[in-house]
Amino acid sequence: MKFYIDTADIGEIREANRRGWVDGVTTNPSLVAKTGKPHHEVIKEICREVSGLVSAEVLSTESEAMFQEGLELAKLADNVVVKIPMIEEGLITVKKLTAEHIKTNVTLVFSPIQALMAAKAGATIVSPFVGRIDDTGANGMSLVSQIIQIYDNYDLTTQVLVASVRHPIHVLESALLGAHIATMPYSVMKGLTRHPLTDKGLAQFLKDAQKMSQ
Ligand code: E4P
Repeated sequence: MKFYIDTADIGEIREANRRGWVDGVTTNPSLVAKTGKPHHEVIKEICREVSGLVSAEVLSTESEAMFQEGLELAKLADNVVVKIPMIEEGLITVKKLTAEHIKTNVTLVFSPIQALMAAKAGATIVSPFVGRIDDTGANGMSLVSQIIQIYDNYDLTTQVLVASVRHPIHVLESALLGAHIATMPYSVMKGLTRHPLTDKGLAQFLKDAQKMSQ
């Protein structure tokens, strides 16, 4: 499973990338706004930093405007994926961008049928938001499982990117289900290597090592 980092913070991307954890990056308007820098500048900087795919979201909601924005975003770097919201106008845009050989990531997916529609439109990636579903009292990972089953049933090649990941269990379940990608904040990524028994075991080994004969 590929790991994407869900941030527009170049410092976090560099740190995670140095550790070899970054297969790609997802951004959204909220994350880019936090940087205080212009959208295209942020995307170009991120694309220079990583070799994997970088999702950059359009801000329009009408298909022709989204298409033009998508073309502009795709020109910023070879590894840009145009992120399109899961609305009817969005799927028209996905179809047009796909015809131009531009990769798309359909975002804000909350139902398996939306994911089927995105795949039929030609989306490269689909992004179910599991954490936001969990927040409503439903089970976000069931959505991922249903999407994977539907895609398998029809050999659809759209990749499933688990988004709105909040904790390591989301990452574990994504991997068990065979999701292609999970995107997560750096804070979640950092937690994935840790286990208290590892720390305890290492402390004991180091203590015992002091008793070794030289
Ligand atoms: C994914 O592409 C989104 O940017 C992201 O995962 C949303 O996560 P949130 O629900 O924590 O904002």
